[in-house]
Amino acid sequence: MTIRAVVRGVGHYLPERVVPNSEFETSVDTSDEWIRTRTGIERRHFAAKGETTSDMGARAAQAALTDAGMTAEDIDAIIVATSTPDLTFPSAASMVQDKIGMRRGFAFDVQAVCAGFVFALANANALILSGQARRVIVIGAETFSRILDWDDRSTCVLFGDGAGALVLEAQEGTGTPADRGILATDLNSDGSYRDLLYVDGGVSTTGTAGHLRMQGNQVFRHAVEKLAATAHAALDKVGLTGADVDWIVPHQANLRIITATAQRMQVPMERVVVTVQDHGNTSAASIPLALSVGKARGQLKEGDLVVTEAIGGGLAWGSVVLRW
Ligand code: ACO
Repeated sequence: MTIRAVVRGVGHYLPERVVPNSEFETSVDTSDEWIRTRTGIERRHFAAKGETTSDMGARAAQAALTDAGMTAEDIDAIIVATSTPDLTFPSAASMVQDKIGMRRGFAFDVQAVCAGFVFALANANALILSGQARRVIVIGAETFSRILDWDDRSTCVLFGDGAGALVLEAQEGTGTPADRGILATDLNSDGSYRDLLYVDGGVSTTGTAGHLRMQGNQVFRHAVEKLAATAHAALDKVGLTGADVDWIVPHQANLRIITATAQRMQVPMERVVVTVQDHGNTSAASIPLALSVGKARGQLKEGDLVVTEAIGGGLAWGSVVLRW
């Protein structure tokens, strides 16, 4: 008997305020046309004043629980992937735990920037396979609007806020790639690239939250090369190839990166879930948001083979292969 971590529910939350590209034209030297053609982004959501990462994470978790037909009492663990927690501590996951009324089990955060959701999924899978938890909520939630430098046109136009969540449950499988659930994971990081993408503040340095800094073209180069490589590495582990993939659900940073990765995997764009035009880059929230939107659009169906892949600050990158 093989235990698999199977997706039972999915949900998301986006803040009410929608900001079109044109809003940036008055504050920095940019244009809707530049942003669309260089990134694919058309609009993004920004959290309201006082609206926090855990508020959005709790809304997404609640939606995923409803989708699963479960309540917070059915859950053993919460993992939140975020780089923008409400406070330095306690974890955003502890706050979500309180907000959804869960009084048992355990909760913790994972910080791997834009790759955070993939890292959190792999951790949830390990908890389930080792028998430490039967049902886990995995959340990606971010308020990147709070760490943007509004005078830096090369970064402030790229990011958005939001949250998405999955409910995973231990189920028996046959041990073949025909099983539903997580089939393979591949995680990587290389701290020697830490200066390509970072926040220039923190608890033990400046004592401030700081602002995001990125050498975009360098990150772009690594993304195109490393995302296809990690997806292939995960598929290889279960003897699958790009031809077996029903949906790539990529980290939504830039449409050009998404397209180049799909090309390298020899998967046509009709089989890629794309939400970057509506959400911008929501860092760790982007994949669960895209999974939830992809299901709502009728793209993801039970039994489909899904590959998620992401890269972010660290650099950290990885992928998860799962059958929906
Ligand atoms: N409007 C107009 N011009 C701009 C803007 C803007 N908003 N931003 C940059 N430019 C200019 C630059 O100043 C530069 O001008 P110059 O040639 O006169 O110096 C020119 O556009 C080209 O700049 P590049 O950085 O080379 O542009 P590029 O085509 O690489 O696009 C982008 C930039 C969109 C950031 C791209 O590099 C990218 O998507 N990088 C990867 C981002 C990513 O995937 N990050 C990982 C996840 S994020 C995380 O982990 C938090």
